[in-house]
Amino acid sequence: MKSKKFILPETLMPTAWYNIVADMPTPPRPYLDPRTRAEVTVADLERLIASELARQELSRERYIEIPEEVQQIYRIWRPAPLVRATGLEKALDTPAKIFFKNEGVSPVGSHKPNSAVPQAYYNFKQGVKRLTTETGAGQWGSALAFAGRHFGLDVDVYMVRVSYDQKPYRRLMMHTWGASCYSSPTDRTASGRAALGRDPHCMGSLGLAISEAVEAALAEPETTRYCLGSVMNHVLLHQTITGEEAIRQMEMAEAEADVIIGCVGGGSNFGGIGFPFLRKKLCEGKQLRVVAVEPESCPKLTRGTFGYDIGDVSGYTPLIPMYSLGHDFQPSAIHAGGLRYHGAGSIISQLLHDGLIEATSVGQTETMRAGILFARTEGIIPAPESTHAIAVAIREALQAKEEGRERTILFNLSGHGTIDLYAYEQHLAGNLVDYLPSDEEIARTASQVIRP
Ligand SMILES: Cc1ncc(COP(=O)(O)O)c(C=O)c1O
Repeated sequence: MKSKKFILPETLMPTAWYNIVADMPTPPRPYLDPRTRAEVTVADLERLIASELARQELSRERYIEIPEEVQQIYRIWRPAPLVRATGLEKALDTPAKIFFKNEGVSPVGSHKPNSAVPQAYYNFKQGVKRLTTETGAGQWGSALAFAGRHFGLDVDVYMVRVSYDQKPYRRLMMHTWGASCYSSPTDRTASGRAALGRDPHCMGSLGLAISEAVEAALAEPETTRYCLGSVMNHVLLHQTITGEEAIRQMEMAEAEADVIIGCVGGGSNFGGIGFPFLRKKLCEGKQLRVVAVEPESCPKLTRGTFGYDIGDVSGYTPLIPMYSLGHDFQPSAIHAGGLRYHGAGSIISQLLHDGLIEATSVGQTETMRAGILFARTEGIIPAPESTHAIAVAIREALQAKEEGRERTILFNLSGHGTIDLYAYEQHLAGNLVDYLPSDEEIARTASQVIRP
């Protein structure tokens, strides 16, 4: 009988994160100060984030040990299962083998606590009392609320107003774990007040919420630090626990992945599953493809510009070398809120620029059809973000069928969608449409990306 899922014993949970920068033929360019254009140092970053995280951000060490305290909390849900999607394979009548890594089993429902826990831990060790952060769809805010609780930290989450209104359950999860959650723009920060001054009904954006959270942290340097849920190198580093586990589990399944797929907001779950497999390509010459999937409506990797851009709207973050649509790009209101971000992290951007990974985009209706098929064949209702990876796994499986060839596909199921049922309701009612920004729309903010 074929095994359905591959469970790694707790004793074999990886004890180090993988830093792909050590193996990249061209490491990403440095971050720059947006005002002076000087290279950003660990000391600069320490004003914003915990010192150890600042060190990890610029580190070139290949492996970084996972502290025992972090491993203890990971063990609440890790190792996460690797599952063979036999139901989906059957429905597609494909010769391809499809596997997925189920990161939806965390208490929060996604991969986000893989980084929230170490971020809370290093801040706690440093004596920080309060964390500030932003959240779009609410997954990251809930993850930091959950992680902060373990170390007795106060957590202030600036949640994009449109999601704050649409997703009361995410907000309630944050409250349950003891965090404060503010509808951004707020009148607590200069960035928020300026936005409200321009438009009192402003629905907010992720870039604006980041500005608010950073500003709030910088205002209380003695007690407070900022945390980010994606984009930055240390966040992707922490997520590599996913790929490290998956490598061991694919061995248990006696299978070798030909193609590894993940959706991309800022790039953390994609990097998390992809980087340890890329190590095999970079260091052992293995033939495999790593495919990043983004929404057609926010196509930074497939239609963006490779250069420098800021990560927020007010310029509190460093200039980051990345594929970006320009920091004022306003993605349309697709349900995959976690993928509505203008740029991708610097490592992913450099890897794409160097042809070491691929990128593709999918429209909202195709992703939701994929989500429904997955729910009906595998039982799990996926997060709207994760349906992007499923849609491309399906494309790959159907192509294998057309070519009459075997192919082993692995994708990251970054989260479950039980709290995103509104998206499913809208899809089932036939109300969802695709949004394809025109070249003119893309050009409008592309000039904000500074070419190096
Ligand atoms: C379930 C889920 N998947 C994916 C993402 C995208 O983020 P990242 O690219 O950092 O993995 C998010 C972001 O909120 C998310 O909630």
